[in-house]
Amino acid sequence: MPKNIDINSIARPNVVKLMPYRSTREDYSGEVFLDSNESSFGPANLVSNSSPPIPASQELNPLQTNRYPDPYCSKVKERLIAKLDCGLSTDNIFVSSGGDEAIDNLTRVFCRPGVDKCLICPPTFEMYEMACMINEIEVLKIDLETSNRPFQLQIDKVIQTLENDPLIKIVWLTTPGNPTGVSLNQKDLLAVLESDYKGIVGIDEAYIDFVGDGHQSMAKYVSKYNNLLLIQTMSKSFGLAGARVGFAISSPEVIKLMNSIKPPFNVSVLAQNAAFEALSPDSIKSMRRIVSEINQTRDEILVPALEKMPNVKAVLGSGDTNFILVQFCLSDGTVSNDFTKKVYEILATESKILLRNRAHMPGCNGSLRIGVGTRDEMYRFLEALEKAFEKLNKE
Ligand SMILES: Cc1ncc(COP(=O)(O)O)c(C=O)c1O
Repeated sequence: MPKNIDINSIARPNVVKLMPYRSTREDYSGEVFLDSNESSFGPANLVSNSSPPIPASQELNPLQTNRYPDPYCSKVKERLIAKLDCGLSTDNIFVSSGGDEAIDNLTRVFCRPGVDKCLICPPTFEMYEMACMINEIEVLKIDLETSNRPFQLQIDKVIQTLENDPLIKIVWLTTPGNPTGVSLNQKDLLAVLESDYKGIVGIDEAYIDFVGDGHQSMAKYVSKYNNLLLIQTMSKSFGLAGARVGFAISSPEVIKLMNSIKPPFNVSVLAQNAAFEALSPDSIKSMRRIVSEINQTRDEILVPALEKMPNVKAVLGSGDTNFILVQFCLSDGTVSNDFTKKVYEILATESKILLRNRAHMPGCNGSLRIGVGTRDEMYRFLEALEKAFEKLNKE
């Protein structure tokens, strides 16, 4: 059944009342811009030494970086909509400085400090909890399953908790998961959307482009459930982590509130241009080629090599992301966080290979998260790992 929650009634009243910042350029198209206290000369390093200085030409400064960017990133949105290809409009998209900004923004739109709550399902991405801690929001946790359906939702418990606590304003579900690398069952996600829960269902699809057939984006459900919000990012499959561009994709009601609290110019001219170029039809084809190389490297080189190593207990999560979650063990098969930490440290100090230690997270005992890089990087990593094991097994 379609869902049409009164979004304003679950948002923070002060946010609903807010009049967003509006620039003169949203009301008039100008030729001489004296409204924003910018420099008419252009970036100082490109301005001539003559006296008086001559403004940098359009040729030298094609992106007009002396001017504030489009506050609503319209050109980027148009291209994202074409990629999503499910009938959404620019009113469904919020462009942020990375997915991280969208997560923080959403938390501040819906959660009253000291009153409201969010629900997360560990092991998961840390920024949901960070945003809550910064904003004094209580975090409820229902761990992912570890036995029957590894790294899937404890769906009955999740739904029951959401339906019984009206103070839970956001539930964060990550698919594919980080650090799990596992896609959540779409049937479970739809069950959450179909439940009587009246808050925001935040589904984080940061790694969605790495997923093979059968686990497609939930974007097609955005027009059906007005409390569904997706996070996507240019940082992973598109290789633009340094540009900082992310997206929230949701109903126009939610997007309007997110726009109303954002800093007016949250995505730079340079970042918008990088995202716009990367979302062209040709660049998307190129992104898909790279994703396919990463997935092949993961499945045909990295995972098989690791599975042969005696000090690798199991590859816990792999198959849907540009990283894998690997559990390490002593020669007798015992999983030990201490051993894993030593592997992690030896790789970092002796081989300059950096991984992420996730051993402290629920269901991730003894595990490291390992990114999938180029084939050469994987061979270098595997060789260094063998050496680390040799050294530790002699101790
Ligand atoms: C699950 C998940 N969501 C969101 C993000 C945020 O990415 P960014 O802020 O670079 O867009 C990350 C980054 O690692 C992630 O793993």
